[in-house]
Amino acid sequence: MASKKLISKLNDQIGLEQAASQVYLGMAIWCEGKSLGGAAAFFYAQSDEERSHMMKVLKYVNGSGGTAAVGSSDAPSVKFASLKAAVKSGLESEKKVTASVQRITTLALAEKDYESFNFLQWFVDEQAEEEQKFQSILDKFELLGEGGRALYSIDKLMGRMAAEE
Ligand SMILES: [Fe+2]
Ligand SMILES: [Fe+2]
Repeated sequence: MASKKLISKLNDQIGLEQAASQVYLGMAIWCEGKSLGGAAAFFYAQSDEERSHMMKVLKYVNGSGGTAAVGSSDAPSVKFASLKAAVKSGLESEKKVTASVQRITTLALAEKDYESFNFLQWFVDEQAEEEQKFQSILDKFELLGEGGRALYSIDKLMGRMAAEE
């Protein structure tokens, strides 16, 4: 059994994962419209992944004496200045999710709720991976720039990343 306070924070996390899933869907739609097939595949996969995170927290809440709350999700933006801008905003959103996971993990520990603490470890690891993934794409932009050839190879790279997931 998790405390009411922790359940409430986990329910907020469900909302964050759900929102992230929507945001990535918007990015995928924009990429597909720009014929960036690799990047579109990357963001579609990312959107699915966020939904699976949402489900993971949802199931945990329901299994811990709580009732999962699914929020209403706003329509995502489907306009971005560039692929680099989309990736950058993805990284920023991941950092916010990481901060939230850290806050909930700290609360679980303070409440001596070791079961929830253990559950949250998976998300701590996952967020480190997610940030690293987005950072590695941004590093490529820094290295190659945003010209046609750079965009072509980064799009290919993102497609490979999606296929490896
Ligand atoms: Fe997530
Ligand atoms: Fe994520």
